[in-house]
Amino acid sequence: MDRIRIVGGNRLSGAIPISGAKNAALPLMIASILTPETLTLQNVPRLSDVRLLAQILNNFGTDTTIAGKRAGQREGYARTMRLNAAEIVDTTAPYELVSQMRASFWVLGPLLARCHEARVSLPGGCAIGTRPVDLHLRGLEALGAEIELDSGYVNARAPGGLKGGRINFPTVSVGATHNVLMAATLAKGTTVIENAAREPEIGDVARCLVAMGADIEGIDTGTLVIRGVDSLHGATHAVVPDRIETGTYAMAVAMTGGDVLLENARTDLLQAAFDVIEEAGATVVGEAGGVRVSRGPGPIRPVHVTTAPYPGFPTDLQAQLMALMTRADGVSTITETIFENRFMHVQELARFGADIRLSGETATITGVPKLTGAPVMATDLRASVSLIIAALAAEGETTVSRVYHLDRGFERIEEKLGRCGATIERISG
Ligand code: EPZ
Repeated sequence: MDRIRIVGGNRLSGAIPISGAKNAALPLMIASILTPETLTLQNVPRLSDVRLLAQILNNFGTDTTIAGKRAGQREGYARTMRLNAAEIVDTTAPYELVSQMRASFWVLGPLLARCHEARVSLPGGCAIGTRPVDLHLRGLEALGAEIELDSGYVNARAPGGLKGGRINFPTVSVGATHNVLMAATLAKGTTVIENAAREPEIGDVARCLVAMGADIEGIDTGTLVIRGVDSLHGATHAVVPDRIETGTYAMAVAMTGGDVLLENARTDLLQAAFDVIEEAGATVVGEAGGVRVSRGPGPIRPVHVTTAPYPGFPTDLQAQLMALMTRADGVSTITETIFENRFMHVQELARFGADIRLSGETATITGVPKLTGAPVMATDLRASVSLIIAALAAEGETTVSRVYHLDRGFERIEEKLGRCGATIERISG
């Protein structure tokens, strides 16, 4: 298994190209199920989750091809993926694949909408909480689906097709919103989703669906109105830049000091996190080519943050912020409200000498004058990158093992950081 070795202490300076968002690319790929024509996605990140989902879609009969890079982009980054589901030959998403990635469960709604039946394994994914799927099922039932649970699988049918319905989600759920939104595009009649998640990746998917011929009102708001159409057609769509990757590198720069242009990044996708990063002592400026983040010699200042659905501070940046706060000049608090078990990085950060106390859903972090490199282990995607941030500022050498977690969501991290002056390498095997 690959490991990443880092020798800390270098400031970061230069430019980092921000990839297309994983959490938009995955549902966009799934949207290809809704049409027999070709969906062309540009700016698709090179990630293991993307490869795994392509495999799942291939099982249904979808042809996927991946090619090249966009003009002006560096070799290796950003690819164009063409997905064609002219004929769906199988509507089962098996345990072996779905258990590796939770987002693959989102095929349920589109399969039901197009084929009127689906058998999808209950999901897996990062171990960051119990992560039930009741809201997905309730939403699809509101569209007339008949659902049964059988031996770890969801068996769903919609004889005669899905019908428009009304669903008011009791909790904001990104995945349930994606699932029901995609399904509703081909339902007969109008669907209203209230308390829909407003994450920019949902807006990105909705815009792609509109380009495919869907009729959706209220994009980027908490109420989505979808008037079902008989069929969707092919389209070309560029995946929105990854705001979590953006925020992660912004925190890395805030941690080490330096000056980095995050190419293609957008401030409007991540205002809450940029406000916190500035409060911590860094400067964030949107400019033509992206977002510039810098921090001079002053101290990292402590902050008090609670995670929340968009537009609040994202849970997917909680671990990275915690790593940054381990070096703050004072005491910070971070409260996690989305996932109950998303603190697995705490014990790994302690190996660097961090001082973190956990009480329920709140972590209290007392900044320490220095961190020391250590062997550490990645436990989930965002937790693993928090260890990289700590390692960049730690004295001496760190090795991060189990980096397959990192490869699910960060494209060529060692190359991107290495180009900006970090001493970082991947050790294969
Ligand atoms: C999405 O997961 C993201 N995944 C997660 O990113 C992200 O952390 C999360 O949204 C919150 O922003 C992708 O986009 C692929 P939810 P999702 O449904 O859809 C509860 C990463 O690191 N809930 O919004 O699974 C749930 O337990 C990943 O890239 C139910 O109770 O999250 C949680 O407490 C990790 N019943 C809350 O809602 C349900 O049926 C929000 O979860 C569904 C969810």
